[in-house]
Amino acid sequence: MSKVPARFHSCNRALTLLLPLAAFAMFATSAQVMAQSAPRPEALIKWRQSAFQVISWNSGRIKAALARGDEQEVRTAAAALAGVANSGLTSLFPPGTAQGKGWRETTARAEIFSDPERFRALTAEFARESSELVRLAAGTDQPAVTAQFARVAKTCKSCHDKFRQTD
Ligand code: HEC
Repeated sequence: MSKVPARFHSCNRALTLLLPLAAFAMFATSAQVMAQSAPRPEALIKWRQSAFQVISWNSGRIKAALARGDEQEVRTAAAALAGVANSGLTSLFPPGTAQGKGWRETTARAEIFSDPERFRALTAEFARESSELVRLAAGTDQPAVTAQFARVAKTCKSCHDKFRQTD
């Protein structure tokens, strides 16, 4: 046994001591990274409630602007609405956020988490109809813009009917 050079021994001992330290450091770092990349449920619920408030603000703006024939305002608000609608809203509804408090208690229904495919499909439809509204609002066919806005509003309602507690 004593044929092994002493230097190797000490080197080996150093490694034995260092490896667990290195492993621990890696674990601690990845735990930190994970904590950073996974926002807390409270933040996610706040963000989605804020997103829907911005959606609501712009849908109200469009309605009022259509009533007074303000095409430029319709364009501005439709762009903002479509921006949020196309922002990947479903990522704000990960498992573990079915319950909890953001700005207020979440009104998300459990069905979002048990039927995510349907929720994803409705979100995609909302995004599509909002983008179509932007496209039409760039032109001057006001009846077409009004009809398209009604289609967007229908997607709000069909999603709320199934996925939001509205009592
Ligand atoms: C794909 C589904 C879906 C669509 C489309 C949708 N919503 Fe919602 N909305 C929700 C869900 C789910 C909540 C509950 C969020 C929470 O409390 O966690 C919500 C919440 C809201 C809220 C309350 C936000 C708050 O502060 O608590 C408003 C206002 C709202 N939506 C307006 C709208 C309007 C207006 C539209 C259409 C222009 C729309 N939503 C389209 C699913 C949808």
